[in-house]
Amino acid sequence: MKIADRIANLPPYVFATVEKKIAAQRAKGVDVISLGIGSPDLAPPKFIIDALYESAKRPDTHGYAGYYGTPALRQAIAQYYQRRFGVELDPDTEIRPLIGSKEGLANMALAFIDPGDIALASDPGYPTYRMGALMAGGDYYSMPLLEENDYLVDFEAIPSDVAAKATIMWLNYPNNPTGAIAPLDFMQKAVDFAREYDIVICYDNPYCDLTFDGYVAPSILQIPGAKEVAVEFNSLSKTYNMAGWRVGMAVGNAQAIQALTTVKTNVDSGIFRPIQDAAVAALTGDQSWIAERNLIYQRRRDIILEWLPKIGMSATPPKGSLYVWAKVPKGVNCEDFAIEMLEKAGVWMTPGTAFGKYGEGYMRLSLCVPEERLREAGERLSKV
Ligand SMILES: Cc1ncc(COP(=O)(O)O)c(C=O)c1O
Repeated sequence: MKIADRIANLPPYVFATVEKKIAAQRAKGVDVISLGIGSPDLAPPKFIIDALYESAKRPDTHGYAGYYGTPALRQAIAQYYQRRFGVELDPDTEIRPLIGSKEGLANMALAFIDPGDIALASDPGYPTYRMGALMAGGDYYSMPLLEENDYLVDFEAIPSDVAAKATIMWLNYPNNPTGAIAPLDFMQKAVDFAREYDIVICYDNPYCDLTFDGYVAPSILQIPGAKEVAVEFNSLSKTYNMAGWRVGMAVGNAQAIQALTTVKTNVDSGIFRPIQDAAVAALTGDQSWIAERNLIYQRRRDIILEWLPKIGMSATPPKGSLYVWAKVPKGVNCEDFAIEMLEKAGVWMTPGTAFGKYGEGYMRLSLCVPEERLREAGERLSKV
């Protein structure tokens, strides 16, 4: 059996490996507190679950649901973008529902990367940006996100020969893993850069509604002319506590959406209809619970920020995302530190290098853990 080189040479997906490490500790009887993955631990409100149930009870919702997303879902996404960002989208040509946004990120690489092409990927960053490029037979260039630049990409630092080979650029703010946010003038610079080098911007925005301290995150499509070069990926996973349901969206440039759709029609057969119906309920129904839910995450953030200094770590309070990006004590290797804390304290934190080489020196701590467990994690870590 010969596994294709592009898969054989791929490093294993970080979080799949981590899951195994944690399971091994749990099998030994350790009560592991995992601050690892950003999977919301709270349920969506009842009206969303009821919409799923009502739709699933119907006999006509169980067949293939079509390749393009239901007209009702595309309309609901258009309404959401208009209400939330003041952005107008054509539901027929500028919106494609996805089976979770991760699916769209990986398929976008197939649509835009040939051998010899480069994906510009922020580092540290969501691993699929880089792995998608490799799976498509291309390569990636790491754009460092540095603390001294507020974790914003420095477009001027990208060599022009690299930019000339790039076909796609991944940006993500509120950022996973750093929690950084991007102002509109940064987005304008990204659009100008993409125009200059004829690159499609993939703006990954799943944390736009996970914000704290009154911050409201923008969409890149608010920048005049952005639609000429940009596609935005968004998701119901975090905004509506629906990570396991697998529903997201790509919106923006019609030509890029069409290319992504061509890949998708050959790969998948649409989203289960009751999930699409529930997504319509989520996007068009009561939104007031989101602010209350964000206060829960904000309190959790503050608990972590309180105990971090006790274990020699420090962090800037994030204004968005589901993570605290914390500096490890000077000179400590973040991967060794993560394993040691798992083994000695039964607390798992993701080492920064899981998100790329520029993550060295940091750990990512997830806010998807209840307050009392977070307090206990702090106590256990400070004892060690
Ligand atoms: C930056 C970023 N993009 C995309 C995703 C994928 O989200 P989903 O596939 O659940 O929509 C995640 C999930 O953690 C993420 O952090």
